[in-house]
Amino acid sequence: MNLKIYIETYGCQMNVNDSQVAAAILEKAGCSVTENISQADVILVNTCSVRDNAEKRVLGRLEVFRLEKKKREGVIVGVLGCMAQRLKDELLKNGNVDFTIGPDSYRSLPAVISYIRDKGGKMTETNLSSTETYSDIDPVRVDSNGVSAFISIMRGCNNMCSYCIVPFTRGRERSRDPQSIVAEAEKLVKEGYKEVTLLGQNVDSYLWINPENTTDSVNFSQLLELVALACPDMRIRFQTSHPKDMRKGVLYTMAMYPNICPHIHLPVQSGSTRMLEKMNRKYTREDYLEKIKAIREILPDCSVTTDIIAGFCSETEEDHQQTLSLMKEVGFDSAFMFQYSERPNTLASRKYPDDVPDGAKTERLNQIIALQNELSLLSNQKCIGQTYQVLVEGPSKRSDKQMTGRTPQNKFCVFDAKDTKPGDLVYVKILTCSSATLMGEIVEQPKTLIEKAEDTIEEGLHEIKEKIIKSIARNKKPKDNE
Ligand code: SAH
Ligand code: SF4
Ligand code: F3S
Repeated sequence: MNLKIYIETYGCQMNVNDSQVAAAILEKAGCSVTENISQADVILVNTCSVRDNAEKRVLGRLEVFRLEKKKREGVIVGVLGCMAQRLKDELLKNGNVDFTIGPDSYRSLPAVISYIRDKGGKMTETNLSSTETYSDIDPVRVDSNGVSAFISIMRGCNNMCSYCIVPFTRGRERSRDPQSIVAEAEKLVKEGYKEVTLLGQNVDSYLWINPENTTDSVNFSQLLELVALACPDMRIRFQTSHPKDMRKGVLYTMAMYPNICPHIHLPVQSGSTRMLEKMNRKYTREDYLEKIKAIREILPDCSVTTDIIAGFCSETEEDHQQTLSLMKEVGFDSAFMFQYSERPNTLASRKYPDDVPDGAKTERLNQIIALQNELSLLSNQKCIGQTYQVLVEGPSKRSDKQMTGRTPQNKFCVFDAKDTKPGDLVYVKILTCSSATLMGEIVEQPKTLIEKAEDTIEEGLHEIKEKIIKSIARNKKPKDNE
């Protein structure tokens, strides 16, 4: 099947990785990926259902694809991902869509495409699996900067947060075998990648049980350690942590391995225990703050980022104030902030009225964003004068004389390019900042604590030596009466 495939991706990092899995399955079947939509035989859009506006964007794109279908006869349009899973054949009523394939059915892509090309018609493949992890598929790194890559370590979600569509679109949680995860990381090292992000909806509940010996298992902190040891020169990140499941063991593993980046994305969603209970998050405000305390104690230089939902069902001004106060108490380094969007069939949509008026939701979200901008600025200002190891990702959008990259804490950084190239690790001293960006200059690698201690000892020894020489010289000096 020698077809040109164009893939557009919306939604989370997991979707970015899934598009790479889909590309790999199609390349194996003889297809090739094109970045040019006007050359495509097959247009795929990998979609997100997490909020209503994410779905609206995709529906808008389908109109654009209709024009491509008009221009060239035989072009096939397929919808992949969470929206395909949620809406199934309802999406096929849209005249522009030829097939829908859900997140667990990507292996059927070649068969579906070839059937539609040969016989015409429309198809839907949306069976959810309790075992599929695509562990044998080597993702084709489309849309990659060649420096940083994603590895999916698990799929699905069992948490059933009451507002969330993900458990419905991605099915039951399942963990991928650690051997194939480590092998994928090692392959990325060979291909020149310098950073990997381990992905799961709740990485803290990763648990692989050896099917041949069920007493043999690997949890998330053990997996982190395996990857850190196998790829000592690779930066390792992970996402997303869940406050109810994050254990100290993960923090200690992070502290032990310098190649695991000190950054935790720990979505809080709300600062009000009443809201958290209604959201079915299974932790209280106090539990969350305890986790933050543990991070600060075990990993003093770790950044903490979060997700916040404004205006969830029955949220009062008092609940909202508690979110603002928790944000201040934690001092998040950055946050993704959203207005609550009711999703069909979720527990919240069935049980709780979406009763916060739109105007109040927007007003609360704006207050949350304004506060986070202040907190992000404060957090960035603390970096001024410090030197960070930055992984160079590519030229700045504003000027090709400047490069961009990220600190271990995942802060975005801009600096004069000099002769650096993507993939280099450089040291950048931070000179100024905005709430979103650190700006600095490349400097020599700063001395480590041990090197500094050695220097102090060296200086001390030198001083003692000088004193001894002086005193010997004094003692040797002939006395006046000699
Ligand atoms: N598994 C991750 C991320 C899930 S989706 C986690 O548990 O944190 C990413 C974010 O989208 C969520 O953290 C939440 O803040 C937001 N989100 C999910 N459903 C939403 C909804 N119905 N309305 C508004 N925001 C939502
Ligand atoms: Fe959704 Fe909750 Fe699962 Fe995250 S943990 S994907 S918010 S159900
Ligand atoms: Fe991701 Fe959106 Fe699906 S956030 S899991 S693509 S609903």
